[in-house]
Amino acid sequence: MSIKNIRLEVMQLLEKKVDTFMNDYLIPVEKIWQPTDLLPDSEKETFFEEVKELREIAKDLPYDFWVVLVGDTITEEALPTYESWLMEVEGVDNEERNGWSRWIRSWTGEENRHGDVLNKYLYLSGRVNMREIEMTTQHLINDGFDIGTGKDPYKNFVYTSFQELATYVSHNRVAQMAKKYGDNKLSKMCKLIAGDEMRHHHAYSEFVNQIFQVDPSEMMLAFQYMMKQKIVMPAHFLRESGQKISSAFEQFSDSAQRIGVYTAADYVDIMQKLIDKWKIDQINGLTDEAEKARDYLMKLPARMARISDRLVIPETSHVFKWVQPALVK
Ligand SMILES: [Fe+2]
Ligand SMILES: [Fe+2]
Repeated sequence: MSIKNIRLEVMQLLEKKVDTFMNDYLIPVEKIWQPTDLLPDSEKETFFEEVKELREIAKDLPYDFWVVLVGDTITEEALPTYESWLMEVEGVDNEERNGWSRWIRSWTGEENRHGDVLNKYLYLSGRVNMREIEMTTQHLINDGFDIGTGKDPYKNFVYTSFQELATYVSHNRVAQMAKKYGDNKLSKMCKLIAGDEMRHHHAYSEFVNQIFQVDPSEMMLAFQYMMKQKIVMPAHFLRESGQKISSAFEQFSDSAQRIGVYTAADYVDIMQKLIDKWKIDQINGLTDEAEKARDYLMKLPARMARISDRLVIPETSHVFKWVQPALVK
C-alpha cells in the first residue's frame, strides 16, 4: 500500500474518535466566552465611560507592545487561510462533511473569536492606525502562506501542535505584560485566548500521539521533516501597505523578541516540549530510517539552542505604519 493510502486509513481510524476529541478539547458555543464578554457593552449607557477608561489605560503601553499586539491580531485575522488549508489535508472531507471537516469547522469557530476580540480592542484603544492594519490583514489573506506540509496530515498535525503552543506562549506573555502595565482587561482577554490555544495544542498533539501508536516510523519521519525545514510562522508573508511580500515579518518578530513575547529560545523550548510529550525516546518498532530520524530529533534542541544564543536583535524598532510613535510612549 502506498504511503498516501496508509495515511488515509490512519485518518479514517482516528476519525471514529472525532466526537471524543471535540468533547475533550473544544467547548460548546453556549458555554465558551465571546468577545462581547470582554469589551465595553455598546448596548449599555455606560459604554462611552468604559471606552474612555479603556483608552486611558491603553496610553501606558509601549511601542513594541503595540506592534506585537497588532501582529498577533493580524495573524489571527488571517484565519481563512488556515481553515481553507486544513480543509485540503488528506482525510479531511468537507464535501462529505466527515468527522475531520467537522473538527476543522469547530476549531475555526473557536479561533475566529481571537481576531474578533483583539481587533475590537485595537479599534477602541485609539493607539493604532486601523486602516493600515486592515490593509496588512487583507494583504496577508491575499498572500496566503507556505508552511511546507503539503496535504500530509502527519506534517500538518506537527505544524498545528507546534503553532498552537507558540501562540499560547505569545498571548500568555502579552497578558503578563498588559497586567504589568495595569491593563487588566486586556490581560484577561489575552489570557483567555492563550487558554484556547493551549486546549488546541493538547488536541493536535494528541492526534500526533495516536498516529505514533499506529504508524510510528512514518510519524517520526514527518516530525523530522518539519523540524529540519523549521516551523515557519503563519504570518511569514506579513507586509505593510505598499510594501513587498514578507517585508514586515522580520521587523515584527524583532519586536516580539525584544520584549520577550516570543523568542528563539521559545522555539527551542517548544520543540523540546513536543519531543517530551510524544516520548520520542521511547517509541518502539521503528525502521532504520526512522531510528536515524529519532536520533536527529533528540539532538536537535541542544543544537538549535547554541544557534539561538548567538542571535542578535536590533535595539530599536522599525517604525510601522500600524502604530504612530507619537501616539505611543
Ligand atoms: Fe488563535
Ligand atoms: Fe490557535
